Amino acid sequence: MVSMTVDLAGARLPNPLMTASGCAANGRELHRFFDVADLGAFVTKSVMLGARSGRGTPRMAETPSGMLNSIGLQGPGIDAFVDDDLAWLASVGARSLVSIAGSDSEEFAEVARRLRDSSSFGSVAGVEVNISCPNVANRGLVFACDPGSSSAVVSLVRSQLPAEVPIFAKLSPDVTDLVTIASACLEAGADGLTMVNTLLGMSIDIDTMRPHLGGVTGGLSGPAIRPVAVRAIWQVRSAMLTGRLPVAPIIGVGGVRTGHDALELVAAGASAVQVGTSTFNDPTAPVRVLRELEQLLEDKGIVAFTDVVGAAHPS
Ligand SMILES: Cc1cc2nc3c(=O)[nH]c(=O)nc-3n(C[C@H](O)[C@H](O)[C@H](O)COP(=O)(O)O)c2cc1C
Repeated sequence: MVSMTVDLAGARLPNPLMTASGCAANGRELHRFFDVADLGAFVTKSVMLGARSGRGTPRMAETPSGMLNSIGLQGPGIDAFVDDDLAWLASVGARSLVSIAGSDSEEFAEVARRLRDSSSFGSVAGVEVNISCPNVANRGLVFACDPGSSSAVVSLVRSQLPAEVPIFAKLSPDVTDLVTIASACLEAGADGLTMVNTLLGMSIDIDTMRPHLGGVTGGLSGPAIRPVAVRAIWQVRSAMLTGRLPVAPIIGVGGVRTGHDALELVAAGASAVQVGTSTFNDPTAPVRVLRELEQLLEDKGIVAFTDVVGAAHPS
C-alpha cells in the first residue's frame, strides 16, 4: 500500500486530492456521487464579503480541449457561506480549503476575519487566497499580476488568521515573471502556493459575429492548460530548489483528468493536486484520479506519495 498522506505547511491531509475552487459548488452536489470527506480537502468557491450574482450570460463557452468561463465570482457572501456551506462541510467531516476573494485588500482581510470568527472554523484545513481574480479597485487588473498588490493582500489576510492555519496564494499564469510574484507572496506570509488559475481567453461566434461570452473574455481551463500548469509548477519549484525562493508546498491545478495527469503535476513539484473542469463531465473525477494515482504509484513500486513530489527535477 502506498502512503498517500501529505503535510501542507502544517495541514495534515489523508491524501493529496482536492476539488478546484468554483468547479464543484460547495460540496453538496458532489456528495451525491462520493463522500466528500474522502478527499484530502474540499476547496470551496471563492467567497467575497457580500452576495454577488456574477457576470452576464452566457457564462460558459466550449473550446476544442476545455472551456471558457466568465462566472464572475457569483456567491452568497461570507456570512451565509459560513452558516450554511462551511457548516455543512464540517457536518459531513470534510476538511475545507476555503477560497476567499475581495475587491481590495481590506475586503480580503474582512472575509478572513469573519471566517476565523465562525463556529465551523475548526474544519478549515487552510485558506486559499484567490488573488488571480480581477481587482475591481484597480480598473480590472488582477492582484496576482503585480508583486506589490499580491503582497498587500497576502500580508493582510495572514494577519487575520491564526499561525497554525496555512494560507495558499492562488497565482495566475498570465504573467511574465511568475517567480517574482511567488516570491512576493511567500515573503508576505503565504505558507504555500496554488498554481494555476485560468488563463484569460476569448471566443467569437462567427454566426452572430459577436463574442460568445456575455463578459466578452473568460478564463480558459481544462486539458488545454495542463502544459501551462506543469511549466508554472516546474519554474517555481526550480526556484525553490536553487535557493531563489523559500521552500513551500505547491498545490497543482490545471487540466487534470487522470492519475497520469496528476502525476505529471506532482513530478513537476506539486505536493497536492486539484481537479476542476474534469468534474463537469465526470463528477467522480477527484476520487477517481486519487485511485488512479495511487495505483500508478503502486505499479511503479513507490512506497510514499511524497517521494515523487518534484521527482522530474535533476537531483
Ligand atoms: C466554472 C469555473 C469557475 C471557477 N471559479 C473559481 C473561483 O471561484 N475561484 C478560483 O480561485 N478559481 C476558480 N476557477 C478556476 C479553477 O479553480 C482552476 O484553477 C482552473 O479551472 C484550472 O483547473 P482545471 O483545468 O482542472 O479546471 C474556476 C474555474 C471554472 C471552470
